[in-house]
Amino acid sequence: MPTSDQVLTEFNDASSEWMHGLPGYAGEREAHDLAQRMHDNAAAKKGHFITFEGPEGSGKSTQLRLLSSWLIAHGIEPLITREPGGTRISEQVRAVLHNPDHTEMTAETEILLYSAARAQHVAQVIRPALESGKIVLCDRFYDSTYAYQGYGRGLSLEALRQITTFATRGLVPDLSLYLDVPPEVGLRRRETGGEEMNRLDRETLAFHQRVREGYLALLRVEPDRWRTIDATGAIDEVQAAVRAAVAEVIGQANRRISE
Ligand code: TMP
Repeated sequence: MPTSDQVLTEFNDASSEWMHGLPGYAGEREAHDLAQRMHDNAAAKKGHFITFEGPEGSGKSTQLRLLSSWLIAHGIEPLITREPGGTRISEQVRAVLHNPDHTEMTAETEILLYSAARAQHVAQVIRPALESGKIVLCDRFYDSTYAYQGYGRGLSLEALRQITTFATRGLVPDLSLYLDVPPEVGLRRRETGGEEMNRLDRETLAFHQRVREGYLALLRVEPDRWRTIDATGAIDEVQAAVRAAVAEVIGQANRRISE
């Protein structure tokens, strides 16, 4: 989690560069006001924000549910949510995004829809929960955008970073768990698991290999935020690794769960 001053500095750097080029941009004032709001938001955040990432069929939704039961058994009631989704509006955007009939959707439309769903989700659900001190467990967050739309589709990572910072107002997970599984194994699990195949599941194996490479690149850039979990093993083995990673990060704040 960056300090609020780091968020402010980073946002000022990014915004001053590109906002001036926008038609109708009125000056420094808007950039400053938005940066100040981000600064206030970052300073107010008290809970823990934990995201689950990984390729298709990595089992992250199952692992998230098991972790949640474990936390509840230790007297901690987490907020469970997912992307795209988590709010009434964002779930409707999800349905548009994942409809297998929407084959004409452009990569640009795709990123804007994922980001629109995210903006609503952060403002309406995630940030209020964090501000009230909750542990938020989120099935996918903006790293999926970098991996799928950036590395998978080949969109500019810098453009994605700017759109993402705008949509989230600079919110960064405290811990991101990467459940690693080779794409061919994950896709096979998905096909045989009885779940409905979405528009992205139907992409080529090469696409999913680029997504995995993308995740590995993201891990290298921010090793402190990430924990890699080998997700090829049995469900309870994977869960043990998930719990260990989570206990390490939130254990000091909540001594009960590290017992
Ligand atoms: P899932 O709920 O089964 O993980 O499916 C979500 C799908 O959406 C998955 O194929 C990854 C994709 N996705 C993106 O491409 N970009 C994003 O920003 C997010 C959140 C998900």
